[in-house]
Amino acid sequence: MIKTVPTTPYDDQKPGTSGLRKKVPHFQQPNYVENFVQSIFDSLQGRDGQTLVIGGDGRYFNREVIQIALRMAAANGFARTIVGRGGILSTPAASNLIRARAAFGGIILSASHNPGGPTEDFGIKYNASNGGPAPERITEAIFARSREIAEYRILAAADLDLDALGTRDLGGMTVEVVDPVEDYAALMERLFDFDAIRDLFRGGFTMAFDAMHAVTGPYAREILENRLGAAAGTVMNGEPLPDFGGHHPDPNLVHARELYDRMMGDDAPDFGAASDGDGDRNLIIGRGIFVTPSDSLALLAANAHLAPGYAGGLKGIARSMPTSAAADRVAERLGIPLYETPTGWKFFGNLLDAGRATLCGEESAGTGSDHVREKDGLWAVLLWLNILAARRQSVKEIVHEHWRSFGRDYYTRHDYEGIDTAPAEALMADLRARLPELPGSTAASMTVERADDFAYHDPVDGSEARAQGIRIYFRGGARAVFRLSGTGTSGATLRVYLERYAPGPDGLDRDPQEALADVITEANAIAGIRARTGRTAPDVVT
Ligand code: G1P
Ligand code: ZN
Repeated sequence: MIKTVPTTPYDDQKPGTSGLRKKVPHFQQPNYVENFVQSIFDSLQGRDGQTLVIGGDGRYFNREVIQIALRMAAANGFARTIVGRGGILSTPAASNLIRARAAFGGIILSASHNPGGPTEDFGIKYNASNGGPAPERITEAIFARSREIAEYRILAAADLDLDALGTRDLGGMTVEVVDPVEDYAALMERLFDFDAIRDLFRGGFTMAFDAMHAVTGPYAREILENRLGAAAGTVMNGEPLPDFGGHHPDPNLVHARELYDRMMGDDAPDFGAASDGDGDRNLIIGRGIFVTPSDSLALLAANAHLAPGYAGGLKGIARSMPTSAAADRVAERLGIPLYETPTGWKFFGNLLDAGRATLCGEESAGTGSDHVREKDGLWAVLLWLNILAARRQSVKEIVHEHWRSFGRDYYTRHDYEGIDTAPAEALMADLRARLPELPGSTAASMTVERADDFAYHDPVDGSEARAQGIRIYFRGGARAVFRLSGTGTSGATLRVYLERYAPGPDGLDRDPQEALADVITEANAIAGIRARTGRTAPDVVT
């Protein structure tokens, strides 16, 4: 029986670029989930008789919300839903399922790399039929609907068993519980040379993959250990837990410290990697060398032709504006276009759909290609493995060879977290106001060549995105970028991105902080970070 339940709107259900993100207790308010899910459905014209994919990263509250979403899908005209067993689907696997099964769209439950648990983070995101995050047109419609919603529709039914594979009926809608790994693993087998990688492992190559008790555990076990023959135990923290074992499932040098230390030690394996809560980010570490995401994108682009899925070459490379210019040099040598987009994966969607870019990446550990419409952590790890299997060199040798050939882009990001919103916004506003007077000026020891506020013109649909970050270029080829985070939950986070290009092999083992010391000083002086925020040092350095 379908029930129509009266409800009153909440005014804070505005989906950001990564969906609606709130703390679990916030989602547990009466009808909060139901209101948002109904607002999604109300914004989708033509959903009648269609297929919907539903899954999440397994965090606390995942199962409850999946049951609600299923009952509501059944009451809102969907003919079929495809759900990962146990309610599990990594974000890239969900994107793949939407595309492979020609679904109308999908609901992904995740708060990415943020912690999980009864008082931690949760999120609901809608992806469209191309497998990518809903475009602004849809998220705006969802928000508008959520502010005037008066009722929602839900089937009165008991919880479905989501732990057994197979097809069941839910009020006339077919629910198909699928193995979350199967289709995704098959896609990876088509893209990469699994024989060559198996051969690499057979020859004694060792690896550590930290799944951080998040969604990639089952994917990594099946693909790396079962199909590629990596030793049992290669996957660390492989059991997805609702609270990620109490840790932040964020694959950076702070939260994946254990892996990092192991990779820098004497008995380090050949290759180390990690992924985040929902499986879209990646961390790559070779024995004795951390590969910055900006360099990783450039290296993957330069070597992608070694993998069967990319043997025909790349159509183009896209990177977010704050990502280093390392990929630009590869694009130039390959004679393919390089697109510089604002921060956020959604800006890559049009380029991928239009066939203009094959590989995309962000400095924040997101890398991906046109195989899905999300960034993809395990995909990046497998492309690295394919390259290592083809070249039979160490990560360090490959990185150093790349720098010798293309030059090196020293890179670091300094984050000032939880600063008050007012001074953070004033700092940015002041920089914007001073843009015209910056060229030719020197605050500490470097001279500004040019400065602007990044604006993006989408070459596919002609849309414009303005005020996407202040770029300051110094004489001699260094750059500083300032922007405020759009994903933070408390106060403001100021991100300062610093880089310098060194054409020759100028000290392969040099520490970026040291190589960038003068750029860091100059950027701090120009923006007056200390005076405005009272902070003398960044909270996180990556
Ligand atoms: C951050 C990253 C950005 C990424 C986004 C979603 O956004 O910097 O590259 O796309 O998370 O994963 P920010 O907090 O900087 O707005
Ligand atoms: Zn994520």
